[in-house]
Amino acid sequence: MSLVRYKVKDLLEMQAGKEVLAKGWVRTKRGNREIAFIALNDGSTIKNIQIVVDKTPETEGVLSKISTGSCICVEGTLVESIGSGQAVEIKAKDITVYGECDPMRYPLQKKDTSFEYLRTVAHMRPRTNTFGAVLRLRSQMAFAIHEFFHSRGFVYLHTPLITASDAEGAGNMFQVTTLDLGAPLPRNKKGDIDYSKDFFGRRTSLTVSGQLEGELGATALGEIYTFGPTFRAENSNTPRHLAEFWMIEPEMAFYDLQDNMDLAEEFIKFLVKYALDNCREDIQFLNDRYDPELVERLESVIGTEFVRLEYTEGIKILEQAVADGVQFEYPVFWGADLQSEHERFLVEQHFKKPVILTGYPKDIKAFYMKQNEDGKTVRAMDVLFPKIGEIIGGSEREADLAKLEARIDELGMSRKNLEWYIDTRRFGSCPHSGFGLGFERLLLFVTGMQNIRDVIPFPRTPKNAEF
Ligand code: 4AD
Ligand code: MG
Repeated sequence: MSLVRYKVKDLLEMQAGKEVLAKGWVRTKRGNREIAFIALNDGSTIKNIQIVVDKTPETEGVLSKISTGSCICVEGTLVESIGSGQAVEIKAKDITVYGECDPMRYPLQKKDTSFEYLRTVAHMRPRTNTFGAVLRLRSQMAFAIHEFFHSRGFVYLHTPLITASDAEGAGNMFQVTTLDLGAPLPRNKKGDIDYSKDFFGRRTSLTVSGQLEGELGATALGEIYTFGPTFRAENSNTPRHLAEFWMIEPEMAFYDLQDNMDLAEEFIKFLVKYALDNCREDIQFLNDRYDPELVERLESVIGTEFVRLEYTEGIKILEQAVADGVQFEYPVFWGADLQSEHERFLVEQHFKKPVILTGYPKDIKAFYMKQNEDGKTVRAMDVLFPKIGEIIGGSEREADLAKLEARIDELGMSRKNLEWYIDTRRFGSCPHSGFGLGFERLLLFVTGMQNIRDVIPFPRTPKNAEF
């Protein structure tokens, strides 16, 4: 009778005595003259299962083929372990080597395990403990996001990745074209590129946000969310920016800014709690290895009420800080877009907890935000987090047709491309709000990792699109 294969995660929780089959990749092999110990990992948990092999003339051949990184199948008995660190181990009866691994060439054999080095071997780094933990957490968080919205009756809306409109009006878009860039481009009479000859018959790009289509969904279905890849061609080489990142964008009819803030706060707390409840071993590993305050920081966020503060008040606090001798790289004045150093000062130094900043100057925010009566500010909200700065950006939306059109014109944007969006205000316009959570920014917080390139399997950043 053939044996059942168990995952390492399950094996480690089973009673000794059973005959089992385990498959995975070798983390280490060590031993003495009589016995070999193999630490086997299959990605199901941060922990390895120990395989004990008697060294005999029969096992000698197979053992000589096993080294760090090789892939094996082990048949044996689950026995109580005498060594510390694990309750059970497998006493091997038979081992098959699926794939050998040349120790001279295996990229993870090197002594250099810096994150910089591992990024150059991103095709192999999921096999390390750290990236195993991060990628399991990433998957769990994606599931938790769906769980949160699903349990609240939100509709999961799929918005397009290829678009003809710039949702943020910031011009940071990657163009999509099938025109042959190696040949002379088709031109119209004015000498401009003739996009009618392009695949879509018009100029298109990869989306910077699903929000505009999200609003179409919310003004029909009530409450929706999107969750998908987003692309920004900003040349920002920072530990918090990716050219391709994932964003979660809920959009809700009949929510005002207060409701929006309440939802954002509840959402993040739910996700952090979910991580602590369901990914404890991986978080503990990251805590012990890199960031001794990680668990404490996560717990403190769940238990604390976020500060809610007007931008104008935030600027006053920052100006006072400057007067008291705090040095910032970028200037602080009313009207300035806050830099991550300013956001982190408010969160880490001043309030020592997450802050939701509202009422930003309209000139530094997108065209769709609801304007306040003062004519200067908009009902924007940014959620600012320790170590990260901005983790969420959102707003109540301008529901008034005339004001929205005027703002689009004022910013010199093309109304023609946005007529479909403006229709939501023409036909049964309603108050509504929404926000976007950067998935990798959330993961930075939850894993305690320092660089956004290390919380996505294959990062896309300026001058880097490998793997
Ligand atoms: O503040 P942003 O640009 O807002 C929007 O895109 C709105 N349409 C959202 C909405 O209201 N539906 O982006 C939202 C979040 C930021 O707070 C940040 O967490 C993340 O997306 N983000 C990035 N993450 C990684 N790399 C980048 N280049 C990012 N740009 C924004
Ligand atoms: Mg923003």
